[in-house]
Amino acid sequence: MHKVRVVQKLTLLPVEERLKAMQAAGNNTFLLQNKDIYMDMITDSGVNGMSDKQMAAMQIADDSYAGSESFNRAKAAIKEVFGVDNVLPAHQGRAAENILAETFVKPGKVALMNFHFTTTKAHITRLGGSVVELVDKKGLIPQTDDPFKGDFNLDNLRSAIEEYTPEKVAFVRVEAGTNLIGGQPVSLENMMAVCDICHQYGVVSVLDASLLQDNMYFMKVREPRCKYMSTKEIYHLLASRFDIIYFSARKLGFSRGGFIISTDAKWTNMMMEYVPLFEGFLTYGGMEVRSIEAAAQGLLESLDMEYINQGPEFIAYLVKELDDYGVPVIKPAGGLGAHLNAQEFVPDMPHNQYPAAAVGAALFIAGGVRGMERGTLSEQREPDGTERYAELELLRLAVPRRVFTLSQIKYCADRVKWLWDNRKLIGGLKWEYEPSVLRFFFGRLKEIGYWQEELTAKFKADFGDSL
Ligand code: F0G
Repeated sequence: MHKVRVVQKLTLLPVEERLKAMQAAGNNTFLLQNKDIYMDMITDSGVNGMSDKQMAAMQIADDSYAGSESFNRAKAAIKEVFGVDNVLPAHQGRAAENILAETFVKPGKVALMNFHFTTTKAHITRLGGSVVELVDKKGLIPQTDDPFKGDFNLDNLRSAIEEYTPEKVAFVRVEAGTNLIGGQPVSLENMMAVCDICHQYGVVSVLDASLLQDNMYFMKVREPRCKYMSTKEIYHLLASRFDIIYFSARKLGFSRGGFIISTDAKWTNMMMEYVPLFEGFLTYGGMEVRSIEAAAQGLLESLDMEYINQGPEFIAYLVKELDDYGVPVIKPAGGLGAHLNAQEFVPDMPHNQYPAAAVGAALFIAGGVRGMERGTLSEQREPDGTERYAELELLRLAVPRRVFTLSQIKYCADRVKWLWDNRKLIGGLKWEYEPSVLRFFFGRLKEIGYWQEELTAKFKADFGDSL
């Protein structure tokens, strides 16, 4: 329920140019230039569509180092949405994770969570802690019809707290919705049960609410107890039960930045000193004031089902289109984006030829669509140099909120279907330059053989000079 009032010109390069751009980027979609991309589906972070009210709010940003009115307006919005008074700012989600980790993680401590996110895990292990994942096994089955595949296995959570002892648990973190397992949601019932267990054992409960907007949609439409609750009642209930909530405002809030909030000042007081140290003074925390204003307004919009349904409904459309055609895709549709199952797309390709990255490179050549590899390439090698193979080889096609039209989503589906029909042409990739850390960001790969030229020739044969 919105219309587009600010537009950005896009280019769709001819297929030969797309081939050149992909090879110049070392077959790594992170190294492509935005000017060469038609549909940028690499992320939903910091690229969501802004509303007229957000743009207007940015005009009254109050640029002061301390005591900014913009921060007070963000606090008021957080009070409205979550019912919470204690708010710390951070420059983005991972900065909030750094503060959380600095406060609670010590060598030997363990953080229990349904599933890790890359930056979360990195902060915890950097400080000598470790991560234990307790997602129910249904979460790792690529295609089921379970509505809440991000749920914790509660029995395993209890046993893990007893095994490690509550004193060694830094915190229990619920990621709702999940990121690396296909944007799958967590039910309200499961989150409440996790909080009960944490209270029972006296361990800190933390909610990563970066993807909560999509999760809210799924709770509302899939969970009977949420049907008659307002979104605000659900946000308030969550905030009253979790000790700490943090989020990336690049996602929740349609803006940039991040926040850590709590009903009890005890928790924010413990973390407060790290904010001026790492981020900036307590009333901006590294955020630019206009982003704070946009986040304040964007958070209020996160209460509105007519805004928050758009992402999940477009994703569901894309997943259904692909699934009906036989393309292997994670099901049921989740939040964040559609996730192609590269292991089934190119079943004969070994993990060490990076199937998800290969499908990603092929899709850019086929349609100027940029996805993100979420598979073995995104893992880190073991200390002895052997590859750690990912549980799932996924190509994520993120759907930034309020950005694309349905005809663009249809275009994307059309190009994926063409690629599926021509999947036999997709070959593997090998390293040209492999960095020792964060190789998925900076690494460069080469095609094995000349499959990309063959794919380009097939595209020309099918579409002629059409783009
Ligand atoms: N938590 C979750 C669940 C996320 O998805 C992200 C970011 C973060 C924390 C970190 O937030 O980017 O503001 O520092 N996910 C982005 C993505 C990067 O593309 O999936 P950030």
